[in-house]
Amino acid sequence: MRVIIKNDSNDCSTWVAGYIAYSIKKAKPSAKKPFVLGLPTGSTPLGVYKELIKLYQNKKISFEHVVTFNMDEYVGLSPEDKNSYHYFMHENFFKFININPKNIYILNGLTKDYAKECEDYEKAIKAYGGIDLMLGGIGSDGHIAFNEPFSSFASRTRIKTLAPSTIKDNSRFFDNDISKVPTQALTIGIGTIMDSKEVIIMATGENKAEAIRATIEEPINHKCPASILQTHRYGIIVCDEGAIKKLSSPTIQYFKGTENRL
Ligand code: PGA
Repeated sequence: MRVIIKNDSNDCSTWVAGYIAYSIKKAKPSAKKPFVLGLPTGSTPLGVYKELIKLYQNKKISFEHVVTFNMDEYVGLSPEDKNSYHYFMHENFFKFININPKNIYILNGLTKDYAKECEDYEKAIKAYGGIDLMLGGIGSDGHIAFNEPFSSFASRTRIKTLAPSTIKDNSRFFDNDISKVPTQALTIGIGTIMDSKEVIIMATGENKAEAIRATIEEPINHKCPASILQTHRYGIIVCDEGAIKKLSSPTIQYFKGTENRL
């Protein structure tokens, strides 16, 4: 795995946006063979979306032939709900770029048939030949998408009950009221993430330091879902100085030294 260490979240965002732009351009996407991008919500990727919008406005990148699959959506929230991930994506990213609305895939949290919704999502990803680049954040408990600790490493898109720690972390978006946070979400699985050709996990701030330590330095364990990234052929973790606070000095020296030589 590659670990990129940057000073702060702004530098992380610039690096990740640059990497996404480079990957899209390198693929030379077309209507027949679009670039397939997996996308997260939450606080961490906001800076990446801002940078990508700038790159688009400066004509450095086009999303004409990009297809996106979002990682997850809360159960029970409509796309118009300000806390839904449909709303988040539209307001923070999609409305500013030239993506074709038909190329945007987000799970429907209002579906009456969760199993079918999730199965159709997996089929749609497959129909495009899989996800080229998956971007994700990480929960303070090590979750990726809404795959909470002890999720199966083989899991596919499905309904999940959120861990109490995730509900507490996310209550900041719901007037700090835990009772307002949905308790379930539809989420792509760990298997879905691992099938992506490349995976970037971003972590910023000290509250992610323990999850990053477990992901990078502990043996693979379902207690920390992100640790499965150790087995991905093209896994990249991008973190700031806060998120590496619990890594050992030799680990930090190794990755800083390696990346500086590139
Ligand atoms: P955050 O969430 O970016 O809001 O910290 C990350 C996650 O839960 O995956």
